[in-house]
Amino acid sequence: MKQMIIEGQNILTGKIDIGGAKNSAVALIPASILAKGKSIITNVPNISDRDALIDILKILNCEVTLNDDELIIDTTNLKNSLIAEKYSSRLRASYYFMGALLGKEKHVEIYIPGGCNIGSRPIDIHLDGFKALGARVTIEENKYILDADELIGTDINLRFASVGATINLMFASVYAKGTTVIHNAAKEAEIINIADFLINMGANITGAGTDTITIKGIENRELKGATIKVLPDRIEAGTYIILGALIGDNLTINNIDPTTIKALTDKLTQMGSKFTIKDNSLTISKSPNLKAIDIQTAVYPGFPTDIGQPMSVLLTQSHGTSVFEETIWENRMGHVPSLNKMGANITVNNMTATIKGPTPLKGCEVIATDLRGGASLVIAGLIAEGKTIITDVEHILRGYENIDKKLQQVGAKITIKEI
Ligand code: EPU
Repeated sequence: MKQMIIEGQNILTGKIDIGGAKNSAVALIPASILAKGKSIITNVPNISDRDALIDILKILNCEVTLNDDELIIDTTNLKNSLIAEKYSSRLRASYYFMGALLGKEKHVEIYIPGGCNIGSRPIDIHLDGFKALGARVTIEENKYILDADELIGTDINLRFASVGATINLMFASVYAKGTTVIHNAAKEAEIINIADFLINMGANITGAGTDTITIKGIENRELKGATIKVLPDRIEAGTYIILGALIGDNLTINNIDPTTIKALTDKLTQMGSKFTIKDNSLTISKSPNLKAIDIQTAVYPGFPTDIGQPMSVLLTQSHGTSVFEETIWENRMGHVPSLNKMGANITVNNMTATIKGPTPLKGCEVIATDLRGGASLVIAGLIAEGKTIITDVEHILRGYENIDKKLQQVGAKITIKEI
């Protein structure tokens, strides 16, 4: 068990380098098994979700070498095997082995995926898509068995623009016979990054980044190992940008793609926050008198659900009443009791939080209930008076690489210790 200890109210100044996007890397790593041979993924973030996926690759008899942020995966001796619950339950993204193994081997046995407890997280859209391609789906207790004699391209209409289902169906259809068209596809930047990897392997995919993705199956050819760079993590970037708006003094966030964080920067501008964007970096300082604002999360390019919890801390320091509505996950308010314990004034009604500010925050002992909720407590601890102790820090380390070191470098007093 790990614990984070923060001494708050130190001004943050200097530079933070953003790593590769967790939500892209966790799909690119399983995608490697679609190709035969060696793939190289660069800019891979140093997060525990990465390590959990590497362990699954090893079960599948892949050779994996990690050199800093470069991951080399050799699938030459791939052997299809059961992915046991102790591996699949370590993270949500283990379900990308469903689409990848189904696409490559036409057979997969995997236990239910894990991940943050932010809602019921069904995978019916994935399974319906696999079935539409011709797969048989059997569920035995907690195990999914997917089988197909042949996968046949078809039109698939997603009832919701699910990120995971869009990616899994691209994986399942790259080798299918004929053409698959995914309608109402997710449009996240991560989807483009993942499609680019498959295209580099030799897949025939068009339309990634729009709501219609077309995959022409390559049937009798084999995809070849390829190289891809993970795009910058827009959620990690957003988290540190919010921190800069609260306690930064010329805090520069480097290695960002400004187009992917526009929903956040638009809201910051409306609140009166001052920042400058130059090429791939953003510099921000604490602004006085930030205005309260209403926010509703939405699918890309709307305001990202994954930034909602960090953003709620900024709203506790803004003047007036903000209404924050989460629309994607039904259980993304787990951080609110901790923020209120620190002195925030937040009331929650279903998926809507009403936040009255500004309220000074005071350090105390709090619990990270999930990844982004945990990140919001780090922000709260850094602006609070006195000492904050965060327990269950493992949630945070699943998605933020070297968070303690990156923050120490810009002046934060933050340490992680084993307890
Ligand atoms: N949904 C269904 N059925 C499905 C799939 C999704 O009902 O088969 C519902 C979900 O319950 C949810 C909504 O659709 O209400 C969105 O789900 P989506 O499938 O888009 O999310 P995901 O692929 O499971 C990814 C990220 C999440 C991020 C969402 C939305 C990964 C590993 N996870 O999840 O990231 O919130 O997209 O952008 O890529 C995080 O990083 O903290 C995180 C939770």
